[in-house]
Amino acid sequence: MLKEAIATRYIAPLREGGSLPGLVETDDFGTYVMKFTGAGQGRKTLVAEVVCGELARRLGFRVPRLAALGLDPVLGLGEPDPQVQDLLRSSAGTNLGMEFLSGALGFDPLAFPVSPAEAGRIVWFDALINNVDRSWRNPNLLMWHGELWLIDHGATMIWHHNWPGAAASAARPYDARDHALRTFGPDVAAAAAALAPLVTADLLAEVTAEIPDAWLTGEPGFGTPDDLRRAYAEPLLARAAVIHDRIEGTA
Ligand SMILES: Nc1ncnc2c1ncn2[C@@H]1O[C@H](COP(=O)(O)OP(=O)(O)OP(=O)(O)O)[C@@H](O)[C@H]1O
Ligand SMILES: [Mg+2]
Repeated sequence: MLKEAIATRYIAPLREGGSLPGLVETDDFGTYVMKFTGAGQGRKTLVAEVVCGELARRLGFRVPRLAALGLDPVLGLGEPDPQVQDLLRSSAGTNLGMEFLSGALGFDPLAFPVSPAEAGRIVWFDALINNVDRSWRNPNLLMWHGELWLIDHGATMIWHHNWPGAAASAARPYDARDHALRTFGPDVAAAAAALAPLVTADLLAEVTAEIPDAWLTGEPGFGTPDDLRRAYAEPLLARAAVIHDRIEGTA
């Protein structure tokens, strides 16, 4: 289970985020970037953040700590911006929090060199989860205390938008042509050799156990939240073994 806390104050919207994430304070005196169930693609984006973020962490990547944040929509009453008001009003219950990395800078490929080993690990991981949101236009990588941190795994695992076609969708290659780290000579073969054996059924069970039940109930075709957890694990397990041979555009 993710750490739980309650949002007590909405501080400000993070204007650069397409889904209008907000900065909030919590009852445990934390400061989090909050992503809302009422935004755009809804709760599936949040499930993807948890599955991919917690998997990345267990594979040794730096990812801000995640939490399940309770939201009472009255928090929106004092907000002057109607867009923010609507978002808070439609997001009662459990939302996602991501520890705020204060002072982090957006990754700039011209200013920060990345080794082929690290680039390879990140490209391989993005191929595994089918991340379409780590392009040079929008890298979703932060520099914090001199190191690279991964954020924003909402636009991944496209197969979870159509479960009956998930196996076929997950068998498709990954297009890395626009990847933010493509020009750093990513050593994908070394990354695959090191990381693929770590992606086991046990590890994925541990990762998917972190998804709050509230985001898994009522999915058509699935009985219990655990049935859906297994469906999240399956394509990742299958993909881990083969995806290094199916990455297009890095050479
Ligand atoms: N944990 C964090 N610490 C510090 N800054 C963050 C953190 N998470 C996000 N940000 C900042 O907020 C911006 C938006 O966050 P994020 O990319 O996760 O949102 P999004 O709505 O999914 O964005 P988009 O779809 O536009 O890429 C990031 O580009 C980054 O500048
Ligand atoms: Mg982003």
